Amino acid sequence: MIPGARLVLLGRQGSGKGTQCVRLSRHFVVPHISTGDMLRAAVREGTELGKMAKAIIDAGGLVGDDIMVGLVSERLTEDDARVRGYILDGFPRTVSQAESLDKATASRPLDLAIDLVVPEEVVLERISSRRVCAKCGAIYSVAAPPSTEWVCDKCGGEVQQRADDTPESIAKRLAAYTLETQPTIDFYSASGLLVGVDGLGTPDEIFARLLGAIDAQL
Ligand code: AP5
Ligand code: MG
Repeated sequence: MIPGARLVLLGRQGSGKGTQCVRLSRHFVVPHISTGDMLRAAVREGTELGKMAKAIIDAGGLVGDDIMVGLVSERLTEDDARVRGYILDGFPRTVSQAESLDKATASRPLDLAIDLVVPEEVVLERISSRRVCAKCGAIYSVAAPPSTEWVCDKCGGEVQQRADDTPESIAKRLAAYTLETQPTIDFYSASGLLVGVDGLGTPDEIFARLLGAIDAQL
C-alpha cells in the first residue's frame, strides 16, 4: 500500500481545498480533516459547539483558536490519523494555531504545507457558483452539478448554497485570510515546509500538480 502522509492544505476561501482534499485523502488513504466540515456538522447536530459557532461562521468570522486547537488535536489522536497521517483542510489558519499544531505533532512532524494559489477574482467566481450537500458536505458547482438536479449523488441529500456564501460573509472571510492566514503561510515558509501550487486549471490538472509537489517532498 502507498505510504501515508501528514499534510496541511492552505489557500484562499474557494481555492479548491475541499475539492482536492477529497482526492488526496483517497490517494494517500489518510483522513481528510476539514475544520469547516467539522463545524458545519456540529451546527447540523445542534451541539453546544455548533450553537456557538453558527453565528461566527455565517458572519465570516473565525472561531476561537483554543476551541479549534482542541478539536483538531483530539481528532489527530484517533487511530486512522496516528497510523496513516492526515490531510488538514482549513486548519491552521492563524499563526497561533500553526504553533499549537507544531507542538501537537512534535513526535511526528508535518511532511508538507501546501499553499493552493488562486487569485481573488477567481475564488469569488468559484464561491458564487458553489453548491454543497446539506447532509454530507459533498462539493458541487453550477458548472458541475449532481446528476439529478440538486440531489446529492453520494447520499441523496439536498444540494444548496452554503449559508456563509453571502457577499458580506465572503468579503469578511477574504479579509481574515489576508490578516490571519497569510502570516500562517509565511510561518510555514520560514520553517522550510511550504510549497506553493498553482490552483488554476481543471481539478484533474491541479490534482496532478499537487501529487507532483507531495511526491517530490516525500
Ligand atoms: P471552511 O469550510 O474551511 O471555508 P473556507 O476557508 O471559506 O474555504 P472554502 O470551503 O470556502 O473553500 P475551498 O478552498 O474548500 O473550496 P472548494 O473546494 O469548496 O470554513 C468555514 C468557516 O468555518 C470559516 O469561515 C470559519 O468561520 C470557520 N473555521 C473553519 N476552520 C477554522 C479555523 N481553523 N479557525 C477558525 N475558524 C475556522 O471549491 C469552491 C468551489 O469551486 C466549488 O464549487 C468547487 O466545485 C469549485 N472548484 C474547485 N476546484 C475548481 C477548479 N479547478 N475549477 C473550477 N471550479 C473549481
Ligand atoms: Mg472547503
